[in-house]
Amino acid sequence: MMGEITVIKIGGSVLTDKSKERTLKLKEIERIAKEIAYAGLKDLVIVHGAGSFGHPQAKRFDLDGNGKCSYYTLITHEIVKELNRIFIEKLVQSGFPVMPIHPLSCTVSIKGRVKKMMTDQIRLMLKNEIVPVVHGDVVMDEVLGRAILSGDQIVSHIARCLNAKRVGIGTDVDGIMDNEGVIDVITPKTFCNMKKLLKGSKDIDVTGGMLSKANELIKLAEDGIPSHIFNASRKGLIMNFLSGERNFGTIIRGD
Ligand code: IPE
Repeated sequence: MMGEITVIKIGGSVLTDKSKERTLKLKEIERIAKEIAYAGLKDLVIVHGAGSFGHPQAKRFDLDGNGKCSYYTLITHEIVKELNRIFIEKLVQSGFPVMPIHPLSCTVSIKGRVKKMMTDQIRLMLKNEIVPVVHGDVVMDEVLGRAILSGDQIVSHIARCLNAKRVGIGTDVDGIMDNEGVIDVITPKTFCNMKKLLKGSKDIDVTGGMLSKANELIKLAEDGIPSHIFNASRKGLIMNFLSGERNFGTIIRGD
């Protein structure tokens, strides 16, 4: 039986070294897989980002020429799939039942936004106590030819379709910050004033860093789904989030 769904995203900067192309943080992937397995939550959808397994490659899209999809489009998909396979392998080795889902094969976008994404297979996996592991990906786009869908956009789409109870965004920072440190709670009202404080990412990031993440999550909060941004590079916080603790990171919720 499918209960109340939690969606968690693990950012590419947590799983990979974003400053060096195609470089894993293997020890971190192992630790994270163990934390997820230890928490033991089965009504869970895992989404992960690409980090250096997707962003630098997608940056070269323009080299494909005239918006055509060819070499670098394929390479971007293949490389993020490789990261997905490694993460899946570590989850399985930790005794956690998972299956991969590749957005390219079940999603179409329009101007970089999800137009349609099949979620029946996700529901069936959950019904069978298998946790789906989805990732940011390149997808076919009705206007642009192809587009990059961030894991964050995929998280909000899946959370809406499955009417998720909670969303967790594991990044490599402690939450959304202002000059005084981590902001505990953000609502659509308070967000307007703090937009200018948020920036993109220091490394190559084709999907826009913290600002686009926050924009995505504010829309989700307006639709009644709260989310929690926290530092997944700090030991134990993924497990704490999955066990329902809330006293760390930034919570984004409705007014
Ligand atoms: C990017 O996904 C997907 C590709 C570049 C293929 P994300 O934007 O969610 O990745 P991270 O978490 O920022 O690395």
